[in-house]
Amino acid sequence: MRDIFPQLDYQPELPKRLDRGIGIVGAGGIVNYAHLPAYKKAGFKVVGITDRNREQAERTAKQQGIPKVYGRVEELLREPDVEIVDVAVYPAEQLAIVEQAAAAGKHLLCQKPLADDYAKAVRSVELAERAKVKIAVNQQMRWDAGIRCTRLLINDGWLGDPTYGSIQVHSKTDWSLWPWIYQGKHVEIMFHSIHYIDSLRYLLGEPTLVFTSGSRAPGETTTAETKTLTVWEYASGLQVLIDVCHTTWQDDAYASFRFEGTEGVIKGTIGLMYNYPTGRPDTLEFMSKRNPAYWFTARLDSMWIPDAFVGPMASLMRAIEDGSEPETSGRDNLRTLQVVFAEYRSMAEKRAVRPQEISQ
Ligand SMILES: NC(=O)c1ccc[n+]([C@@H]2O[C@H](COP(=O)([O-])OP(=O)(O)OC[C@H]3O[C@@H](n4cnc5c(N)ncnc54)[C@H](O)[C@@H]3O)[C@@H](O)[C@H]2O)c1
Repeated sequence: MRDIFPQLDYQPELPKRLDRGIGIVGAGGIVNYAHLPAYKKAGFKVVGITDRNREQAERTAKQQGIPKVYGRVEELLREPDVEIVDVAVYPAEQLAIVEQAAAAGKHLLCQKPLADDYAKAVRSVELAERAKVKIAVNQQMRWDAGIRCTRLLINDGWLGDPTYGSIQVHSKTDWSLWPWIYQGKHVEIMFHSIHYIDSLRYLLGEPTLVFTSGSRAPGETTTAETKTLTVWEYASGLQVLIDVCHTTWQDDAYASFRFEGTEGVIKGTIGLMYNYPTGRPDTLEFMSKRNPAYWFTARLDSMWIPDAFVGPMASLMRAIEDGSEPETSGRDNLRTLQVVFAEYRSMAEKRAVRPQEISQ
């Protein structure tokens, strides 16, 4: 049986050159616990950092060994050693930074969501394209071990034609990590399920129709959605379920994915969601008609945080190297955002929505 176990090389493909200078805008939580530990592991070169809260930038630089702190974004952009600007600020703030960085001829890795509305996201992509710089979005779940292995299995024909896909995550989310998100107009889909939307597009392609119900638990102080149930339809008959609830009060959290196809079944767990942001490795099992009634088990030892964060930066660097597009390019991300905003329209109008309905 071992003979037919597929090669599941899920590690990100690194660029030839690791020493392209990275300048970071935003010295908050995600930069400290994910970007910087990942870049250190990969051997990437961080030249400097800036944050509108200077003390925060100084503290991060000291703790993480970053050589330079800039008082303003403009100073960082004047630094010749900075080739890539890694933006990790709030979505409403990203467009202004993209505009300046593109004008300065710097390549860009932006955090998800690329913008807080679709028109701003389109503008960001157009600005980068016009300036002939690369723009990628930090949708690092595509490099999460369970998702990447699923993609390798699908590409290798183990699933056959996909007929069903699901991601189901119920957890007790600690919103105090992101007080600015919890009080916003959009919560669950915009900041969390956007990962599942992007990963499901990556694995299964574009849905033709989406339907979403969004709600929250009694007593919650946000007016946005914290639990959502979504169904996607495809022309082929493939159906997708995204079932996410952040208000589970007991400790019985679960985070699973399952894909069924004409030739096989793939199922597993998303380790990060069992104890964010520490998490545990994903699990993945699959059964195939090539060997019916036997569950293959993959051994996965990389983590969403920080390991998967190497992926988007490595992919951007490879795109700079060979003139290709990053896997999570800004242009590709517009399709993820179309689905995000289609789901919100569906929630508001209580109807199924085609992602193409979302335009500027
Ligand atoms: N990819 C992921 O898995 C993931 C996970 C968490 C957060 N995020 C995203 O990362 C971004 C940051 O989240 P966070 O949790 O680190 O937030 P945070 O509040 O911890 O940090 C944000 C930092 O950006 C700084 N800042 C804001 N606007 C700025 C500007 N215009 N110029 C310079 N500095 C500015 C703030 O002072 C703050 O230090 C958000 O867009 C969030 O959606 C992504």
